[in-house]
Amino acid sequence: MESCYGLVIILLLSTSCNAQIRNPFEAVQGCLQYDSVPGYNDTLEYFATDSFRHVGRTHNSKYIRVGMVGPTDGIIRFGKSRFPYGESVSEICLSGWSNQKTEVNRHTRSSNSEYINTPLKIQMTPNVLSKTRPMMFRLEVFDNGSVQLTKDGEKRPFLEFDDNHSRLDLDYIAFTKWNHELFYYYDCPLNMDSNSVDDTIVLRCSFA
Ligand SMILES: *[C@@H]1O[C@H](CO)[C@@H](O)[C@H](O)[C@H]1NC(C)=O
Ligand SMILES: *[C@@H]1O[C@H](CO)[C@@H](O)[C@H](O)[C@H]1NC(C)=O
Ligand SMILES: *[C@@H]1O[C@H](CO)[C@@H](O)[C@H](O)[C@H]1NC(C)=O
Repeated sequence: MESCYGLVIILLLSTSCNAQIRNPFEAVQGCLQYDSVPGYNDTLEYFATDSFRHVGRTHNSKYIRVGMVGPTDGIIRFGKSRFPYGESVSEICLSGWSNQKTEVNRHTRSSNSEYINTPLKIQMTPNVLSKTRPMMFRLEVFDNGSVQLTKDGEKRPFLEFDDNHSRLDLDYIAFTKWNHELFYYYDCPLNMDSNSVDDTIVLRCSFA
């Protein structure tokens, strides 16, 4: 209790405060950065999630935290092998169509020039991507087949899908792009995704 009274006194003494914009890239602290992103039809580099330092597990799910910076079309593929030619992966194209809609596909690629996309979901996600601040989210794959994407600081997913209710594998993940440059953060610390407020503005006070 005594420390609470101390805090109150300090707040009462504070005289001048001004709002400052926190550096939004603080959110990527501890992540790995991926900025040599191959194109949509190029050979992708699949990373084994089990070699990540930060992998979350619950009794019915596995999750990681990733981020992206760019104007539109943040594209992630994940599946169960490092070279998924001839088998399907799940593809999330976050905010394609000029940062307006997200499309989820079952992506089956036989070569760098041939693939089939089976659409699983199309959803409005206006302006979630940004060129100046990282869009950070948790990607969680459940045993019941659901996949949920939950933005940092939010409790409910902004995107949820499944592929015919079958369990999807988050063993390998790769990042790609369409016609715009963008870059990614992966293997991110998981502890930051529980912030309940969007604290991009901090009050800096000077105590007189
Ligand atoms: C799968 O489980 C998750 C977590 O319990 C739940 O949010 C989701 O609605 C479930 N999906 C289906 C299709 O039952
Ligand atoms: C969906 O799952 C059912 C039962 O497992 C299967 O018979 C069917 O072929 C699947 N459909 C697609 C489009 O994969
Ligand atoms: C990828 O390949 C498909 C089919 O060959 C083509 O239609 C599409 O424009 C290509 N995408 C890019 C970004 O090069």
